[in-house]
Amino acid sequence: MSENAQARYSTGAIIFHWLIAILVIVNWRIAEGAEHLEGAAKSAAIAPHKAIGITILVLSVLRLLWRMSHKPPALPDALAGWEKLLARTMHGIFYVLLIGLPIGGWLASSYAGRPVDFFGLFTIPMLPVAENMDQAKSVIGAHKNGGGLLLILIALHILGAAKHQFIDKLPSFSRMWPGKS
Ligand code: HEM
Ligand code: HEM
Repeated sequence: MSENAQARYSTGAIIFHWLIAILVIVNWRIAEGAEHLEGAAKSAAIAPHKAIGITILVLSVLRLLWRMSHKPPALPDALAGWEKLLARTMHGIFYVLLIGLPIGGWLASSYAGRPVDFFGLFTIPMLPVAENMDQAKSVIGAHKNGGGLLLILIALHILGAAKHQFIDKLPSFSRMWPGKS
């Protein structure tokens, strides 16, 4: 196995990966839990979803900046060209969704005239758009679809990582886990 194939992501990239992964899963469960509520109960239940979502946005931007200054390890040479392309495309779509979804949620809240409360600590200002409930509804519709797509991709991502690690016996989980390089 070449040196490249054994290399790991940097510790910073690993921390960002797992922190964001946990927050995304928690945030999805909170949104699901709020889905069938109405009125004040729904606003209260969705408030932490919004605050965690903004946290994911900030962490994802920092993660991308980190990635630009800490080159990820090359994919194992044993992967076919199309597999490398698929992995890169998948990771690219993840970044688009990790940044696009919270911005969409923030935009929808802004159209609805509701600033985002950050765990009671401070208020995140609304994006500069005029109040428009129709726009709020259509943006939140796209947000829900994007969230659904993210979940499908996460499932495929886990299956792909497991296949490479356990069936192909290529380094996969070990690349995204701290340890000796
Ligand atoms: C990466 C971050 C985020 C993810 C992965 C995410 C994911 C989701 C998902 C999957 C749903 C649909 C749940 C369902 O009804 O089945 C949802 C709903 C929603 N999200 Fe997010 N979201 C994120 C960030 C945000 C942010 C930052 C805001 C607002 C500032 C927000 C506001 C909302 C609202 C208002 C709903 C609608 C709840 C409803 O009407 O049922 N989200 N989100
Ligand atoms: C839940 C949300 C998750 C998201 C949004 C996510 C996103 C990502 C992204 C964007 C990368 C590429 C890193 C880069 O090159 O910049 C990556 C790599 C990786 N992820 Fe995840 N991930 C998630 C969960 C998981 C889970 C649950 C597992 C394992 C069970 C996992 C295993 C891996 C592995 C092994 C890699 C390294 C792939 C390689 O060999 O290059 N991820 N993930």
